[in-house]
Amino acid sequence: MNIRSQRKDDHVDLALKQNQFDNDFNLMKITHQSLPNISFDDIDTSIVLWGKTFSYPFYINAMSGGSDKTKETNRKLALIAKRFNLAMALGSQHAALKDESLIDSYKIVRETNPKGFIMGNVSANASLEEALKAVEMLRADALGIHINIAQEIAMDEGDRDFRNWETNIKEIVENCSVPVIVKEVGFGMSQLTVKKLKKMGVKNIDISGRGGTNFLWIENQRSETPRFDYLMDWGISPIESLLMNKNEHDNTIILASGGVKNPLDLMKLLVLGAKAVGISGMFLKFAQLPEEAMMEKVESFIHDFKLLMLLVSCKNVSQLQKLEYQLDGKLSAYYEEK
Ligand code: FNR
Repeated sequence: MNIRSQRKDDHVDLALKQNQFDNDFNLMKITHQSLPNISFDDIDTSIVLWGKTFSYPFYINAMSGGSDKTKETNRKLALIAKRFNLAMALGSQHAALKDESLIDSYKIVRETNPKGFIMGNVSANASLEEALKAVEMLRADALGIHINIAQEIAMDEGDRDFRNWETNIKEIVENCSVPVIVKEVGFGMSQLTVKKLKKMGVKNIDISGRGGTNFLWIENQRSETPRFDYLMDWGISPIESLLMNKNEHDNTIILASGGVKNPLDLMKLLVLGAKAVGISGMFLKFAQLPEEAMMEKVESFIHDFKLLMLLVSCKNVSQLQKLEYQLDGKLSAYYEEK
């Protein structure tokens, strides 16, 4: 197996083994409401993004592809996306850009869900040519560019020169015919980062924050000389990142992800203004189950999300964004600005 395929399998195996890290979901409380005046059947969970309607305000975030094992994961995730009308992002396509024999492990998603909304994925190291090839490979409806500095420094084989990232991103955004989403990989984005991206012309941003899948932990496990134990709480949680960036939504679609493991986590990120929420680790766990059990898990997640909408008296997703909430601990510093 080549090194890229091996790395993909390692990432999946370690992500499944990883324990929970600290995130800030418990520092935010949505205010309880006691008079719903709506019925379960009235609830509309759909959202419109990039001119398309999706049934639910979450999507399967970038993970898989590049090996036989991840091909099967991609197939199962694509079945979920098809059944529930969810957008689905693929993992980094560089493995297939370098070795054509791996293209199948990504294309399986288009074959399984021919009409689905599929997002390709490249690194910020990608040239424009590579980015366009990645889109073409999947007939992708959008393209993610991951920015993963924390992961790179912890990888023995990681990049050490990042001077081309900003130029590459700008060039891809200017020349790509589908929406381009710049995304973190679980370390969050500060307001400075978001402002820089906006200045570079980026219109879609996934702040992907700390507290879920932790690539510093994963790469530290893979390293010949693991030495970053002290960096395990590095990064900005999705809650804090959304609070930092609450005035940055003009002309920009802000998406959020990182550590969502239940419908309440999802709801909190929507309440804080995320247009949609990406979920990786949770779907990766579901995809390990037999198909029927996997679908039941997603159904139950959706059902419970709708019950929570009753709990906060919201008929649709845009009403969620008007809800009151409280912030505890270090997050209470964001109150004055609210
Ligand atoms: C990822 N993630 C990721 N992101 C990306 O843009 N390109 C990639 O190739 C990968 N690969 C990848 C593999 C695996 C196994 C996992 C679990 C995740 C990062 C992912 O999209 C997301 O940003 C983080 O995982 C945080 O979300 P969760 O996992 O906490 O929901």
